[in-house]
Amino acid sequence: MCGIIGYIGYRDAIPVLVNGLEKLEYRGYDSAGIACLPHQKERFFVIKEKGKLSALKEKLGDFSVEAHLGIGHTRWATHGEPSRVNAHPHIDAAGKIALVHNGIIENYATLKNILQKKGMRFLSQTDTEVGANLIGLHYHKTPKLFDAVQRAVSELHGFFSLVLFTKEDPETLIAYKRSNPLVIGLGQRENFIASDVTALLPYTREVIYLEDEDLAVITAKEVSIYSLKTRSWVKRRSSTVNWDVAQAQKQGFPHFMLKEMYEQPDVLKTILNKRIQKNGEIFFDTLSKKFQTQLKNIERVSMISCGTAYHAGLVGSIAIEKYAKISCRTQVSSEFRYGDSLLNKKDLVVLITQSGETADTLAALREAKAKGAATLAIVNVVGSTIAREADAVIYTHAGPEIGVASTKAYTAQLATLLLLAFYMAKIRRTIADADFKKLIKEIKKIPQHCAKILKEIKKFETCAQKHYTRRNFLYLGRGCNYPTALEGALKLKEISYAHAHGYAAGEMKHGPIALIDHEQPVICIASNSFTIDKMISNIQEIRARDGIVIAIGTEGHRELEKMADDFFSVPAVPEILSPILTVIPLQFFAYKIAVLNGRDVDQPRNLAKSVTVE
Ligand code: AGP
Repeated sequence: MCGIIGYIGYRDAIPVLVNGLEKLEYRGYDSAGIACLPHQKERFFVIKEKGKLSALKEKLGDFSVEAHLGIGHTRWATHGEPSRVNAHPHIDAAGKIALVHNGIIENYATLKNILQKKGMRFLSQTDTEVGANLIGLHYHKTPKLFDAVQRAVSELHGFFSLVLFTKEDPETLIAYKRSNPLVIGLGQRENFIASDVTALLPYTREVIYLEDEDLAVITAKEVSIYSLKTRSWVKRRSSTVNWDVAQAQKQGFPHFMLKEMYEQPDVLKTILNKRIQKNGEIFFDTLSKKFQTQLKNIERVSMISCGTAYHAGLVGSIAIEKYAKISCRTQVSSEFRYGDSLLNKKDLVVLITQSGETADTLAALREAKAKGAATLAIVNVVGSTIAREADAVIYTHAGPEIGVASTKAYTAQLATLLLLAFYMAKIRRTIADADFKKLIKEIKKIPQHCAKILKEIKKFETCAQKHYTRRNFLYLGRGCNYPTALEGALKLKEISYAHAHGYAAGEMKHGPIALIDHEQPVICIASNSFTIDKMISNIQEIRARDGIVIAIGTEGHRELEKMADDFFSVPAVPEILSPILTVIPLQFFAYKIAVLNGRDVDQPRNLAKSVTVE
C-alpha cells in the first residue's frame, strides 16, 4: 500500500504535494519523492529520498521551485528494497514521463525482459519503472499520452493505480485505476488526485472516487473520465466528504486495528493471486533455483519467531510435518538464540517476522547462519534487516500494519506458511497430486470465507458486552488451533490488559481445570477437526463445573451451539486452513473488549510495534 498525490492548478505545487504526503505517510514510509514541472521549464524537477517523509522535506528545504503541476509518492516497498533509486516518482528511459504507482504489476519481470531487449535501460529494481517504460514505449509511437497509457495498461497484469504526466504537456495529469484506490479532489482553478481523501481535505471536500478501469484526464479547469470497461467517456458523480483527517487515515474506521482486520480478505486475495499460478502451481518469486534445490534436500526445519509470529510458526510447523513430511520444531527467538541448538547445513531455519527488525529474531538468524543452517525469512517489511540478512526471503505482502496488535500480518503469515508447506510437499513429492489440488482449491476460497465472517462479526459484539468487565479469560484449542488459542489470548491481553491464558485443551486436567468457575469465560476453538470429539468432552467438563463457554465452531454444528453460552461459526474448511478463519472472531472479541474498557487500542501501554531491543 503506497500513498499517491497529484496536483494541477494555481497554487505552488510542492507544498501541496508535501502536505498531501504527510497525510498519506501511514500508507507507507520506506521512501518518498516528488516530481514537478517548474513553470516555463522543459525539465522535470525530481527529488526522492529513502526513509520517512522528513528526510525528503529536509532535502527539499534547499530548493525553491515554482511549479503548478506535480506528483508525489510515499512508498511501502513490494519490489526492490527501500532506497533512493527505488523511490517514486520514476522517469521513463526517454526522460519524458514522470509516474507514481500503487499496487503490484505482476508480469513486470517478463515485460522488463522485453523492454531491455529493445535497448531500454533501467535504473531501479521496481515494477513501477517497468510500467513507466512501457508507457514511454507507446508514447514514442503515439503523440497522446492518454492513448499511450490506454495501450500500456492493457498489457499490464495485476492490481494497481497510476498517476503520471509528461513534460511535453504541462497542463495535464493522467490517472488510471485498477483495484487500488484513487480519488479526485475538485477545486476552483485547480484539481487534485490522491490514494485517499486524507490528502485532499485541507483543500476540498468535493471528490470523485474513480472506478476500476477508469482513465482520467485532469487539468486545472476540468476532469474527464474514460472507462476502459465500456470504452466510453463517463460522468462520475462527485460526493462531499464529511470525515476529518484522522478518520480519513483510518478510512472511517475508529482504529487502525479494526481497519486492518477488515483488510484481511483483500490481503489474502493478493497473496493467493501472487503465489498461486494459473496452472495451480505455487510460485515464490524471490526464491532462487539454488534455494529451491536446498528446500528439496533439507532434513529438518526450525520455525523461529516471537509473539504472534511464533503462533504462526506453530501452525506452519504442523503443516510442514503433515504435508512435507519433515521434522519441524518451533521455538521463540529468545530461547533459540541462547540455547544450544544442534544445527548443520541440512537444517532450514525459518524466521517469521512482520517488522523484520525484532532483536531476538535477528540474533536467532545470525546464530542459525553461524551454525551453517540455511535461513529463510518470512517478512512483511520489504528490505528490512532480517529480510536482507537471511539466505532467502518470502514477503507476506500484508501492507503497512499500523496497529500494534497484529491482525492482517498474522493471517498473511499463516497463508504464506501454509503455501510454503504445500510447496515443499510438492517439490519433495510427499503429497498426492489430487490432495495438492484439493488444498489449492480450498485455500483459494479463504478470502471469501474471511469476508463472510467479517460481515457477520457484529453478532459477536453482544458476547463482548457481556464479558468486558471480566479480568480473567482462558482460551483452549487443539491441534492447529492450539496456536489459535495462544493468539486469541495474546490479542486480548495486549490490548485490554485483562489476564488471558491460551492452553492446549488436552492439558485442562493437568491444571487449568482448577480455574473453571462461573466467573471466568472459557473461549473454546472447536471447529471441525480430527479431535473435535475430544474438544466437545472438554466443553462438557467445563459446563459440568458451572463454567462459561464461548465456542468458535464450524457452521451447522448444532450440538456445539447448544452447549455454548455464546457460539460463533466459521465456514467449513480443511482443518489445516481453519486457523486463518477461527482467529478472526478472537481478534474482534479482543478489540471490542479493549474498546469497551476505553483502552488505547492502536498503541497499548508498554508495547511497541517492533521490539528492536532485547
Ligand atoms: C503481536 O500482536 C505483537 N505486536 C507482538 O507479539 C509481535 O507479534 C512480536 O513482537 C513479533 O514482532 P515481529 O513479527 O515484527 O517480529
